[in-house]
Amino acid sequence: MPGVSSLTAEPDRLVSTGKERFVQRLFNALAPTYDAFNALASLGMHQSWRRRTLDLLSVKPGETLADFCCGTGDFLELAAPRVGPHGRLIGIDFSDEMLVRARKRLVGKVQVANLELVLGNVEDSKLPPASVDVITCGYALRNVDSLERTFAEMFRVLKPGGRVGLLELSRPRQALLRWGYWLYLEQLLPLVSRPLVRDRGALDYLSSSVKGFREPEDVLRLLGDAGFRNVRRETVFLGVCSIYLGEV
Ligand SMILES: C[S@@+](CC[C@H](N)C(=O)[O-])C[C@H]1O[C@@H](n2cnc3c(N)ncnc32)[C@H](O)[C@@H]1O
Repeated sequence: MPGVSSLTAEPDRLVSTGKERFVQRLFNALAPTYDAFNALASLGMHQSWRRRTLDLLSVKPGETLADFCCGTGDFLELAAPRVGPHGRLIGIDFSDEMLVRARKRLVGKVQVANLELVLGNVEDSKLPPASVDVITCGYALRNVDSLERTFAEMFRVLKPGGRVGLLELSRPRQALLRWGYWLYLEQLLPLVSRPLVRDRGALDYLSSSVKGFREPEDVLRLLGDAGFRNVRRETVFLGVCSIYLGEV
């Protein structure tokens, strides 16, 4: 049975900007149907993209892995057999409703010596410096208030030789593919996901956050600016998703 601990933070105190407040509220509201929506929106492919991220990170038994913006715990569940019974998993998210689902999914189900689910803000994670081997982060770079602060925090908590793997939606480069992608995100997805997501504003946020997100080259540059070396990107599924990688 894994140990589980959680900081007793007040969810309201974790957010200070308008964007953080909006994002926290959004995911608290989406939490009950988030997993089903993710499976639908990615046409069932999201878990294979997470597995690919973990493969690229070469996660080893006994390592400490922190999942920034862990949501309902997908990455942690897939990472558990890789870090093994002597490994350590830490999930951090500022949505208490998402963390409740992570707890249900993981506690008593994954065989890991230490599992910590922390209600916290990843821009100020409170983890000790140089204490983590691997950081993952899924579909959340668009949602944090400051990529610069988030990357600086990742760099601070990783050990020398530590690795980061960030999975994020991106815009296909090819014009026809891009057109099909917007059609899917803005027209088709809102129709088929209506039973799961009633709030049209949430879906508008999804497409506008993908449209407004930085170019991949910018993300790589910011990772480099934060101190990461060997920064690189692998695209998956025609450029709809990107995996950003870097090392300390
Ligand atoms: C799209 S969900 C992704 C969840 C999960 N990583 C996954 O792969 O399914 C984005 C998550 O990021 C969290 N989040 C956004 N900004 C955050 C921050 N600054 N600190 C902690 N969590 C944050 C939200 O609460 C939400 O659970």
